[in-house]
Amino acid sequence: MSVPVIAIDGPSGSGKGTIARRVADALGYHLLDSGALYRLTALAARRHDVDMGNPEALARLARSLNIEFGRDGQGGEMVLLNYEDVTNELRTEETGAGASAVAAMGPVREALLELQKSFRKPPGLVADGRDMGTQVFPDAVLKVFLTASAEERARRRHKQLKDKGIDVSLAALSRDIEDRDRRDTERSVAPLRPAEDARVLDSSGQSIETVTNTVLDWAERCDGF
Ligand code: DC
Repeated sequence: MSVPVIAIDGPSGSGKGTIARRVADALGYHLLDSGALYRLTALAARRHDVDMGNPEALARLARSLNIEFGRDGQGGEMVLLNYEDVTNELRTEETGAGASAVAAMGPVREALLELQKSFRKPPGLVADGRDMGTQVFPDAVLKVFLTASAEERARRRHKQLKDKGIDVSLAALSRDIEDRDRRDTERSVAPLRPAEDARVLDSSGQSIETVTNTVLDWAERCDGF
């Protein structure tokens, strides 16, 4: 029997990362944060001065990444690139913008495909991204497409930034999120959309626990799990 995969896809701010981590911990499964791979590619490109307009060179770079995912002393996520801790740098707006650019390039997506598949190990994998259920793990036992209204995602982002002491207007954040949704769903390479057999879950107004339990409940009921 093949190793079960739970695919959790959706737009940024839908809470995918948090839910994927909770579900993986509850089941004792491995976790793939596929967005981090695009972020790492962008970060490595900046460090090695690779031309952001050259998809083939970026794809070669993506194939050569030396990456390690782990936990820090407090149980938080930790990411190493060439043995260096890049966890914080990975989350900056600049790295996010670079990730969005490289993620729109076919050769880079192709280069990262095998790496993503290699995370599928017993007893199972929870994979978080945009195209887990459609492209990378089309045979996932459960495909969840997690959404939240643009207002709710803007509010969550606003709170995150405020906690960091950064004050940005809520209206401006909403506009950014709507623009990004449009770009992600309308791009020609791997556009963001639910797989035909995905279950859509709107997390607006729901607690992390409720959403996690819904996914675990679905997982328990599905074939091949
Ligand atoms: O989820 P995130 O913000 O870390 O993703 C970073 C970028 O990578 C974002 O622009 C979407 C893109 N991405 C993608 O195209 N496919 C994935 N499976 C994961 C992320």
